[in-house]
Amino acid sequence: ASQMRVDVSGVAVGTQLTVLFLGKPVFIRHRSEEEIAEARAVSVDDLVDPIARNPNLGDVPATDENRSMPDFSGANTGEWLVQVGVCTHLGCVPIGDGAGDFGGWFCPCHGSHYDSSGRIRRGPAPENLPIPVAEFVDDSTILLG
Ligand code: FES
Repeated sequence: ASQMRVDVSGVAVGTQLTVLFLGKPVFIRHRSEEEIAEARAVSVDDLVDPIARNPNLGDVPATDENRSMPDFSGANTGEWLVQVGVCTHLGCVPIGDGAGDFGGWFCPCHGSHYDSSGRIRRGPAPENLPIPVAEFVDDSTILLG
């Protein structure tokens, strides 16, 4: 299987690095305290799609804790969110950096709003943005695939 190592040491808090992996954009976001707090305050009962869509964990609820990525020590502070940047409606690339009405991503093609955990909150997209198979392999390197 194809894999890719990404150095995230230069990704400042509150910004996102986009890389191309297996022909698709992958959004690697270094979230701010505010983004993390907003994402973690949401009840799964309020979500359109209650499934985390995280193959690293299996079929688990879409809490932010189940979507954000643990650091190399295994702690999940919520700082890192890694997702495939393809809208689950018809495949456009959503706009990031807090776009949309839920402080996350917005797909301009047909108006899907994703929150700061990449969960669909309004619009035609049926599912949360998918999490790729990924993990930290040292303090500042993410291995995709
Ligand atoms: Fe994103 Fe339709 S492709 S809303």
